Amino acid sequence: MTPTHARDAEWWRSAVTYQIYPRSFADSNGDGVGDLPGITSRLQDLAELGVDAVWLSPFYTSPQKDAGYDVSDFRDVDPLFGTLADFDQMVARAHGLGLRVIADIVPNHTSDQHAWFQAALASAPGSPERNRYMFRDGAGARGDLPPNNWEAIFGGPAWTRVTEADGAPGQWYLHLFDSSQPDLNWELEEVRAEFDSVLRFWLDRGVDGFRVDVAHGLIKAAGLPDYRREDSDTSVAGESATLAPYLAQDGVHEVWRRWRRITDSYPGDRILIAEAWVSPLELMANWVRPDEMHQTFNFGYMESPWDAPALRTVIDDSLETFGGVGAPSTWVLSNHDIVRHATRLALGVELPHGHGVGPDTPGLPDLDHGIRRARAASLLMLSLPGSAYVYQGEELGLPEATDIPGSARQDPSWFRTGGERYGRDGCRVPVPWESDAPAYGFNDTGATWLPQPATWKQLARDVQTGVPGSTLEMYRSTLRLRREHRLGTGDVAWQDSPLGVLIHDNGPVRVIANVSGAPVDVSGDVLIASSPLEGGRLPADTTVWVRKPE
Ligand code: NOJ
Repeated sequence: MTPTHARDAEWWRSAVTYQIYPRSFADSNGDGVGDLPGITSRLQDLAELGVDAVWLSPFYTSPQKDAGYDVSDFRDVDPLFGTLADFDQMVARAHGLGLRVIADIVPNHTSDQHAWFQAALASAPGSPERNRYMFRDGAGARGDLPPNNWEAIFGGPAWTRVTEADGAPGQWYLHLFDSSQPDLNWELEEVRAEFDSVLRFWLDRGVDGFRVDVAHGLIKAAGLPDYRREDSDTSVAGESATLAPYLAQDGVHEVWRRWRRITDSYPGDRILIAEAWVSPLELMANWVRPDEMHQTFNFGYMESPWDAPALRTVIDDSLETFGGVGAPSTWVLSNHDIVRHATRLALGVELPHGHGVGPDTPGLPDLDHGIRRARAASLLMLSLPGSAYVYQGEELGLPEATDIPGSARQDPSWFRTGGERYGRDGCRVPVPWESDAPAYGFNDTGATWLPQPATWKQLARDVQTGVPGSTLEMYRSTLRLRREHRLGTGDVAWQDSPLGVLIHDNGPVRVIANVSGAPVDVSGDVLIASSPLEGGRLPADTTVWVRKPE
């Protein structure tokens, strides 16, 4: 049966969406990598958690050089994850449980194994096949220098030289990410038409929308002018998108308007969600103007430190700026590209985006401190009006896996920087379901594509299920209360508060987040707390929801 909330028109304005990272969610065939049948078998748990939708990171045919964000066939499932029939079964099961399904679409680039790129390599410079990508002659008398000075977001140059059919060194192609991810030429109608058809392929199979990868990419400034990042340490997030000639170009909005016409032509509310790492929020809001996308990930909120004035500012700015274009704000604390918030928010050092953490990172928090702060942050996030995202495992309080040996690491940014950046593997480790099973219940063989930390035994889902006060039960109760009190469609009314404390009312609920280092007095009937109150006081790093006083 479909619950009422999931049938509502404009469901996405207040939805809580759970991000499934298919490689690491549940593995039905025991090969160490999660798959679609594994997801299907665990959807009931997500329905019971109380989320409205699931978003799946890519499961398409791919050589997996960037964990599936290097797609070689946009219309098929990689055998690693199953088949199209498995996909259909997964969607049917999700819909049967009242869960919407959001797919991930990757339009900025293809895999170098995609038929188009292989055809481009086999064709001559200037051919229509080459023109689907960003091929250019090299600079310098012999063309042996890259066409411009752009750097790849994963590190190293953004250009790779090919060998022509006659064996001579040839042209260069652009790749904003890994060399296995050539950028498409979005000036070309053929590329646009191809993606129209890919969208329709998955919409016809029943998906409720798309998370759009690198939605600030696609279009590059005419002439591909040189550009040097001020801080070459930055990664996916840290780009100054306003300046970079390969990000946030005006022309990209035409593409989103075209996509919106497609999603609107389907029954039900099918949606588009932008992964657009742009700042400030005023610029980001351009992605969610009424005829463009429905939502954009609020990375400003995700990157806010655990600091009361900073949080209050980003919350106010988000509500005002997205509200100004008629869009809901979104809220997100973790995903597959950033250090998990149970580690990040309590880290003693500032970390450039995408660098990740490892055993020798200074200021790593201990488990309890990290989880305590993460729970407080989650309870604050889920009190806010708009749409929230939960990344698999955060409902268990999982911290970042820090002790992955170099030999097991897989993120291309680890390789492209010669190990200087740990990258994102630490937030992508297979999640624990059962504390006493092989691979903590991720599968029944014990194989895992990244090693699981021993401490995760105590965080497995089965040891938290039904245990009052566990992180899992906190999320479950919070999502129930959020729905019951319609917080997703409510608003934020700030109240006077002591220094370092945030107090706001949303409908009948008063939310008090103690971001200061010391306990504060609270009163009112407690609905839920991220950690127990102590002698009627709210300890540091704790959020509580109380019934709003009359
Ligand atoms: C953003 C995705 O979230 C990330 O995982 C991926 O590496 C890049 N886009 C490139 O597709």
